[in-house]
Amino acid sequence: MRYAAITDRLYDLGGDKWAIHNTARDKIAAGENIIELTIGEPDITTDPALVETCVAALRAGRTRYSNGRGETGLVAALVDTYRPRMPDICDQNVLCFPGTQTALYAVCAALTQTGDGVLIGDPYYATYEGVVSATGAHVEPVPLRMEHGFVLQAEDLAAAITPQSRVVLLNTPHNPTGAVLDRDTLVAIGDLCIEHDLWIVCDEVYEALIFEGDFVSPLEIPALRARTVVVSSISKSHAATGFRSGWSIGPKEFSRRLLPISETMLFGNQPFIADMTEAALRGDFPTAAHLREALGRRAGLVHEMAQQITGLSSRMPAGGMFAMLDVSGTGMDGDAFAWHLLQTQGVAVMPGSAFGAGGRDLIRVALTVPDEELRTAMTRIAHVCRDAQERCAGVA
Ligand SMILES: Cc1ncc(COP(=O)(O)O)c(C=O)c1O
Repeated sequence: MRYAAITDRLYDLGGDKWAIHNTARDKIAAGENIIELTIGEPDITTDPALVETCVAALRAGRTRYSNGRGETGLVAALVDTYRPRMPDICDQNVLCFPGTQTALYAVCAALTQTGDGVLIGDPYYATYEGVVSATGAHVEPVPLRMEHGFVLQAEDLAAAITPQSRVVLLNTPHNPTGAVLDRDTLVAIGDLCIEHDLWIVCDEVYEALIFEGDFVSPLEIPALRARTVVVSSISKSHAATGFRSGWSIGPKEFSRRLLPISETMLFGNQPFIADMTEAALRGDFPTAAHLREALGRRAGLVHEMAQQITGLSSRMPAGGMFAMLDVSGTGMDGDAFAWHLLQTQGVAVMPGSAFGAGGRDLIRVALTVPDEELRTAMTRIAHVCRDAQERCAGVA
């Protein structure tokens, strides 16, 4: 049978990246004691009051078709949420989606097509390559360097821009590196986008999870607003990943053109989830503060322990749910290290290569387990490093 080219473009994206995670899950199912530090699921539950709001909405019959933009109450709540950053925002700047991921997919479909380039800091979130490739566009990687705390540097971006470049896809706070973009960096990146007429798509899903510095959105920089689209959700801020509730905020004409794409994909959103999301945005819930405190403490724990381990280098992440460790000092790349760690120590981490070629020498450690478990995992990581040093010494 014949298939459309999109299925070829996405064929090899996905499965292989998660091989260690899947192997770890198989081992757990077989009764092995594995510390799983592979994915970024908040380790607390959705606030019971939000769950109740959703259930109450279901019981109240909020189960019918919605419109394509999103329920009026939720759109109004998003307008109020973003007004401090975008004073002239109105409902026409807003579209609701089932999660940041869907919003990204639709936004990329609206901005890119075959032959276009999307500039992305490398390493990058595992689904970005698929989202870009689906449209026929390609990733133009921009190196993120540990010596700069993995913060995207304007000069690296300038060097990567080609005549095909159409979009710069930013993610702050950043998965997998934990880097946060400050205002000066955003201004410098924005100047290049203005000079080369590039869109800025900014994935702000980890906005609430910053432990060092302040969050700044490109929407706050007036000169960038006409070319900026923000995507985000309540997945991380409210530990509500399974609710699939996100949005895009962009210029009116952009949003007008995005709406039919959304409508043909989704035919509207789910009113009972919209009600719960509106309550999440308007209410005062402790979830984000709790996560921020726990993740910041664990990031510090991993960074401090990593600094004591010969063969590892690390940078304190400024936000997000992960720490990246450079394992090249052990003589192994991230893949070899991660497999060895799983097979010999029962600790599952993601190899950095799952996040682009720039992650080759890195492993990503999820900070989403209790401190003691993380400490044990770091002790086991230290064992692998020590064994590697001893092997090297033996060879020498
Ligand atoms: C950088 C980044 N963007 C988007 C997503 C997906 O978010 P959502 O649950 O809102 O679709 C994730 C999930 O881990 C992520 O890490």
